[in-house]
Amino acid sequence: MKVAQSTHADQQTAEALTYAAVLEYMNRFQEPEARAAIADLRLPAGSYGLDVGCGVGLYAVWLAEAIGPSGRVLGVDRAPERIAAAQQLVGTALAPGRLELRPGDGTAIAAADHTFDWVWCADVLHHIDHTVSALQEFMRVVRPGGRILIKESQVLQALFLPGHMALERQLQRAEIQCSQAEAGARSFQERRQRTWESMREAGLTDIRLRTYVVERQAPLDTIAQRYIQEVIFDRNWGWRLRGLLDARDWEQRTALCAASSPRAILQRPDYYCIYPFTMFTARRP
Ligand SMILES: C[S@@+](CC[C@H](N)C(=O)[O-])C[C@H]1O[C@@H](n2cnc3c(N)ncnc32)[C@H](O)[C@@H]1O
Repeated sequence: MKVAQSTHADQQTAEALTYAAVLEYMNRFQEPEARAAIADLRLPAGSYGLDVGCGVGLYAVWLAEAIGPSGRVLGVDRAPERIAAAQQLVGTALAPGRLELRPGDGTAIAAADHTFDWVWCADVLHHIDHTVSALQEFMRVVRPGGRILIKESQVLQALFLPGHMALERQLQRAEIQCSQAEAGARSFQERRQRTWESMREAGLTDIRLRTYVVERQAPLDTIAQRYIQEVIFDRNWGWRLRGLLDARDWEQRTALCAASSPRAILQRPDYYCIYPFTMFTARRP
């Protein structure tokens, strides 16, 4: 059997991709479903919202677009380089005053009590150790009756290698191990599943959830192709997992995931993927 020999090329691609590029690819991959999820929130026209952990700012723009020309969004991210990337990507996307981007920590928000009509936080909460206190900080800056909107991707329910369940499970297991080094006692994957529990403990009311599914099928467009190849296969399932997989799983992963492999799964005419994310919404009493 011919096995792909592209591991060094893989590594170079993964290393070349900045985290800002990873977020941009991820956001663009999810854009139609993300915009649908935002529309379903029916955020009030002209409202003022906060995007905690805004990354490269695309979600902040989509949120601002959803609340109309008199609405405003403040995006904060604790990584100043992410705010710089956001300024570059979306800094001039909207009329002046509609979108502000600045460095800031979601666990100690530089804003007075009751400043915002809603707080949005997408794929960030699992990075925060003290989730309940972070949610209470979101509640502090939201007006009474205002809304807290948490998006978490359901990464363990995603499917990127249809027909290869055992390998995909091993890759997920290795990713959990990998995240534990950063996340501590609870992996990011576990924390993502405890969002509702944390919202209840924080004292939020009227907690609801709704799951959206990103589905893509062959022939993939460039956005899906680049996201799956460069972010999922080359980066997330790249060299950082090498030592956490046995030789056979690594070889199979390379045969299916390396772009230059003769068995590359993305080249199959019957390829498809499934990627769910959940919106948890609640009100501040
Ligand atoms: C996975 S990214 C998600 C970015 C964006 N929300 C999106 O959906 O594309 C997580 C982001 O959260 C930011 N972040 C993590 N902890 C934070 C905190 N305590 N306060 C503000 N931002 C934080 C990181 O710097 C990173 O940009």
